[in-house]
Amino acid sequence: MKICVVGTGYVGLVGAAIFSDWGNPVIGVDKDENKIGRIKAGEMPIYEPGLSEIVLKNIKEGSLSFTTSLAEGVKESEVVFICVGTPQSESGAADLSAVWSVAKEIAQNMNGYKVIVIKSTVPVGTNERVKKIIQENLSGNCDFDVASNPEFLREGCSVEDMRNPDRNVIGSDSPKALSILRSLYEHLGKPIVECDLRSAEMIKYASNAFLATKITFVNEMAQVCERAGADISVVSKGMGLDRRIGHYFLNAGIGYGGSCFPKDVAALYKTSSDQDYDFNLVRGVMNVNKSQKEYFLQKVFRYYGKNLSNKRFAVLGLAFKNDTDDIRESVAIEIVKYLRGAGALLSVYDPQAMYNSKQILGDNGIKYCLDKYETLEGSDALFILTEWKEFASLDLEKVKLTLREPVIFDGRNLLDWRKVESLGFTYFAVGKRTNGVEKIERKDVYSTAILKNENNHH
Ligand SMILES: NC(=O)c1ccc[n+]([C@@H]2O[C@H](COP(=O)([O-])OP(=O)(O)OC[C@H]3O[C@@H](n4cnc5c(N)ncnc54)[C@H](O)[C@@H]3O)[C@@H](O)[C@H]2O)c1
Repeated sequence: MKICVVGTGYVGLVGAAIFSDWGNPVIGVDKDENKIGRIKAGEMPIYEPGLSEIVLKNIKEGSLSFTTSLAEGVKESEVVFICVGTPQSESGAADLSAVWSVAKEIAQNMNGYKVIVIKSTVPVGTNERVKKIIQENLSGNCDFDVASNPEFLREGCSVEDMRNPDRNVIGSDSPKALSILRSLYEHLGKPIVECDLRSAEMIKYASNAFLATKITFVNEMAQVCERAGADISVVSKGMGLDRRIGHYFLNAGIGYGGSCFPKDVAALYKTSSDQDYDFNLVRGVMNVNKSQKEYFLQKVFRYYGKNLSNKRFAVLGLAFKNDTDDIRESVAIEIVKYLRGAGALLSVYDPQAMYNSKQILGDNGIKYCLDKYETLEGSDALFILTEWKEFASLDLEKVKLTLREPVIFDGRNLLDWRKVESLGFTYFAVGKRTNGVEKIERKDVYSTAILKNENNHH
């Protein structure tokens, strides 16, 4: 089946590569000339394990090509996937302007029957509106169908996820479109959920909001564990062994981020409000997620005081999660900004997100290091903010020797607290009563006492 994929970002580029690898001729389209130029030159504009090999192989074999001309892509294809971004707008709703403009342009270039498939994450009713836009802008008398095919891949393992999905969801009111899309995916032998457009759109939001809720539940449990003297990592392990719960998305940390969860949770809340329903739980999830990062930062300020201008910190991890270069809505980046805002100098390192981070954070007060150990030189403490595997295997003796003070703030619970403490570190994690927490509590009691004394004198 001849396929056109519009938008060659994390979803579109991987989708185009995998569809062509399955034996379909695919044209990838993007309005970003620089991006298309780089892909054509064999350079991937994003980091995804395994992606480059598939793209290069299929370009070489002639089944995958790229262009900035949407007209060319549409005219050559029978199925057109829309994979453009749908970021959060100010109201919290998804900004669908890219979807509308692509739909209009597709309509103007139709030259025969086509299925227009929306893979971008879009709120309920979007597919119906796209259908209307295409009808209103059709160049000739062409027949077409619209289908919703939300994507569930995870950045960092998107190639594997597309090849081996838990399920594919196809929504359409056209049996012909459903059958065409079924034939694209059925060779995978995975469940295919065929349904109406609105349910397909909703499955994506329900899934992401549920996962964000799962993370948030554990983050809030972490707060209770830390206060009550339990260890959230052990509690999560014990919970996750229950098959009804499962062990995914049970790691406590500094809150969820990334280009999907924050915007999709906000968009679902907006959809429910638009339907005159106040989605209490989802509202709570958004609030708790915000306070999770604040709670982590509070520990830093309780330990050092509010002014960090005489400190330098080593920061490991800037991407919103491991195995990606994506820093959109990265909590690590937000924390870096806070620390910098309080005057701290920073030495940072991320295995893949250095270039993107530099564009956002700039050079002022931030040193970009070549490896994880370089960040430690002249630093007063180590911060672990992204769960890259290589940070879990740090040589802690070396860390202790290089840091000016043996202090670690572990926002991802990557290290074994017993080992870290036995080496003489002051250690802060999430949801564990470590020696760092005990120190700041003693300090708080002490400063309250001083405050009381001062008040008595006056
Ligand atoms: N990134 C993920 O992990 C993920 C997972 C599942 C679903 N999604 C959803 O998929 C969609 C795309 O996400 P992404 O992360 O790939 O975004 P992205 O920003 O990486 O890529 C979007 C691409 O679309 C291009 N584009 C925008 N307007 C265009 C136009 N008019 N014509 C041609 N190209 C245009 C941009 O230049 C960009 O390259 C979003 O709706 C997102 O919510 C993302």
